[in-house]
Order: sequence, then structure tokens, then C-alpha cells
Amino acid sequence: MTEIPHHDIIRHLGHRRTVIGEAPGRVNLIGEHTDYSGGYVLPTVIPQTTAVAVAANADGASRAWSASVPHDQQQLRFVVGEEARTSTWVDYVQGATAVLRAAGHRVGGFDAVIRSEVPLGSGLSSSASLTVAVLRALRDLFQLHIDDVVLAGLARRVETDFIGVPVGVMDPIACALGAANHALFLDTRDLSWQLVRIPSTAEFAVINSGISHSHATGSYRQRRQECDAATRALGVHEIRDLSEYGQRRIEQLPEFLRKRARHIVSENARVLAAVEALRKRDMARFGGLMDESHASLRDDYEISLPQIDRMVEIARAQRGVLGARITGGGFGGSIVVLTLAGQAVRVATAVAQAARDELGLRPQVLVPPTK
Ligand code: GLA
Repeated sequence: MTEIPHHDIIRHLGHRRTVIGEAPGRVNLIGEHTDYSGGYVLPTVIPQTTAVAVAANADGASRAWSASVPHDQQQLRFVVGEEARTSTWVDYVQGATAVLRAAGHRVGGFDAVIRSEVPLGSGLSSSASLTVAVLRALRDLFQLHIDDVVLAGLARRVETDFIGVPVGVMDPIACALGAANHALFLDTRDLSWQLVRIPSTAEFAVINSGISHSHATGSYRQRRQECDAATRALGVHEIRDLSEYGQRRIEQLPEFLRKRARHIVSENARVLAAVEALRKRDMARFGGLMDESHASLRDDYEISLPQIDRMVEIARAQRGVLGARITGGGFGGSIVVLTLAGQAVRVATAVAQAARDELGLRPQVLVPPTK
């Protein structure tokens, strides 16, 4: 639970009735870059969350204050009903009122105080965590009748429609519906989902490399376009629709499209195998699938970086490690490591130390949490 210091609430919201919305970040365990082609994903939540305190005000002008951004950016304003993109963090707040109003909900002026423990650009969904938390706070403040599934859909529209980043559906659903000690198995085609318990014989560690990425910039968009191009070239609605016979056609595509399509097909199969492994409590098998996923993201989807590959290698060399991979959109961000129970702290500390000494990075252990 992220604490917003009381003095910050008093300073910015005074003694008005205040409600707080909260949502966790997420780490994707397996199923990467499959959520924009109707594939399968398997994320879970991390202990770090974003909290948003809001209080109504009489004018339509809204002030939002964030403790998690550089000083000169801390307080930003916008007008409910006249939302316009600014390319600053306040777009996640005004995007929320814009999509709520577009969906027919009544939202008035309010002030907001935000604090996030999810590091920006770490591949752990800082933005979906913020958007879901804002929407939860506004739902409470304006007494809107929206369940968490609908709320996740609205959160996605903040990013795709208001901010204009072509992300998939995994992150808001994971942040809104995920649960500790469970993996969320989501079919992004029909949005059916279920929580699958993570056996207590194993643990996950998450280490942020400190190399920050932004999906608003080229590479993520480019992968989406390449995925669409491969889908068109294969003549299917979604790559997942390829029959086993049809999969042979992948080999006839130009090299880079072939690699992209091959990753999506193999990654979808790995998610299904990983869910089966979880159900059978076969965590060695789960770890092996994470290793294969990393190789596919490195060689076929090409979203890793040499420093991240090295962190994964270092992790694998530790005692008690069952598997490791890059997680999230890529081009930086975090790695996720599966270890035997009781080993995650030692492994994460060793990986972070090596990343600092050998690679000159400024890594941060997020899971298990250190405080
Ligand atoms: C980002 C996007 C998600 C998903 C992942 C890659 O986190 O927001 O929709 O595409 O990258 O799996």
C-alpha cells in the first residue's frame, strides 16, 4: 500500500472529503508481445502500487500534483470537459476524465495528489497502474457504477485513444484484476481470464535494469506494425488463427516478418504450456519456458538489449534459479527470475550487484520488496 503523506494531502486538498484509489504495477511472467494479436498472456501483480487521493472542487479546473516526477513538473492543471493532450504525465489524469465522459459518466472538477512506487519506464506498467488508480478514485468520488473489468477497458482507452500509444490490453487488466500469489491467465481475444495459484515451492524475483524505455517512441510501435504486416502476409485475421499446416507458410515470409510471426506462434504455445505447468506445480518446466521465451524475444522478436541479455545470463548462473527472462515491452526495463522458494532475495541481490559492477547499470530490486 502506497502511503500519501498526510501533510501533502492537507497542503493540496485541504480538509475536503478525500477518497483514495489504488492499483498495483504488474510483472508479466510469460506471453510477451502477444496481447495485440489476440494471444495469451500470464502476468501477476507486484507489491509496488500507485495511490491517488482526490477531492471535488467547485470550479471545473482541476489541479493534479505528483510526488513521483521532477520538481518543476509536480503540479499541472487541466479543465474537465476541455481535456487536451499535453504530452506530460497529467494526460493520464485528464485522459481518465475524457474517457469517462465519452462513456457517458458525469465527472466534475477535482484536485488530485498522486504517489507511485512503480518506477517509470521499468516494464512494470507504471502507466496502467496510475490510470487504474485514477479511475478507481474518480469512481468512488463521483459514485460511478463501473466494475473493474469495464474500468480496465476504460484505462486502456486512456492510453490508446487519448494519449495515442498503441498498447495492448494486458496491462490495465493485470493492474485491475490481478491478485498476489496468482498468475492471471488472460485470453486477449475474448478477454476471458482466470487466476491460477502460484505454488509455494517457487518464488519470483524482479530486477529493474534502470535502462528506461518509452512505448511512445518508435520501437514498440514498429513491432506492432511488423506484427500487422506478418498477419496480412499470412492472410489470417490474427496470427493465432494459423492452422498447424498454415504455420508452414511462416517459413516463406521475408526474414524479419518470419521471425516476428514465429515468436508470436511459439510464445502463445508457451503460455498454454506454462499454465499447465502451474496447475501441475511443475515449476522446473515453467522456468524452462521462461528461458525459451527470453531466447525468442532476443532472437526472433528482437526487443532485448545486450545488457539485459547479460543480466538474464547472470541470473541463470545463480544457484536455485529455474528460469529468467526480460519482461514487459522491452528495449530496457526489468527481468523476471523464477527461483526455488526462499532463494529470491539472495538471487536478486546477486544479480543487481553484478549488473552494477560488471555492466555499470543502476539496477533496483523490486521483488521481493526490500522494505
Ligand atoms: C507493453 C504494453 C502491453 C504489451 C507489452 C508486451 O507493456 O503496454 O500491452 O504489449 O508491452 O508484452
